[in-house]
Amino acid sequence: MKQQGAILWLTGLSSAGKTTIAQGVAEGLQKRNYPTELLDGDIVRTHLSQGLGFSKQDRDTNVRRIGFVANLLSRNGIIAIVAAISPYRQVREELKQTTTNFIEIYIQAPLAICESRDVKGLYAKARKGEIKNFTGISDPYEEPINPEIICQTDQFTVEQCVNQVLHYLETQGFI
Ligand code: ADX
Repeated sequence: MKQQGAILWLTGLSSAGKTTIAQGVAEGLQKRNYPTELLDGDIVRTHLSQGLGFSKQDRDTNVRRIGFVANLLSRNGIIAIVAAISPYRQVREELKQTTTNFIEIYIQAPLAICESRDVKGLYAKARKGEIKNFTGISDPYEEPINPEIICQTDQFTVEQCVNQVLHYLETQGFI
């Protein structure tokens, strides 16, 4: 039987833990010999989405491009893991409807916690007005209404969150 692909779409605020959990899930799947590919917003923006900014229109374009690539992978039996803020509900819903095995994973932590982590120092800059349209500060983040998984990264360890995702894939028969 052909391996079933999927799109694990990790959405959430900056510093919520998307990249860390995505990497952990990728590692877990690779250890079990499942073909996986990681698409991280920060990296995608250096090539596939180079030149795009952070207006709603540009973010939607970025998300649709990532979704397009993730779908090519998914329908060919690869588990595509996406880590992108993807703040707008409508375009996430659009992808859920038009792609193969789209699994929405909300990487959730309160804004105050994300801001205190400030992994890249961007919240501080956004507060000073040095970065405009920063998600959570001066730009919207629309929470998923009905995600398949919610990882609460302020309450659980990275390992627990990674296991939560792997467990979901097991129970749904993807792995
Ligand atoms: S998305 O909104 O289009 O999905 P994406 O995940 O690709 O965003 O990129 C977010 C990354 O861009 C952040 O992790 C951060 O490093 C950087 N960044 C730069 N400016 C902004 C901004 N205004 N809002 C959010 N992230 C920003």
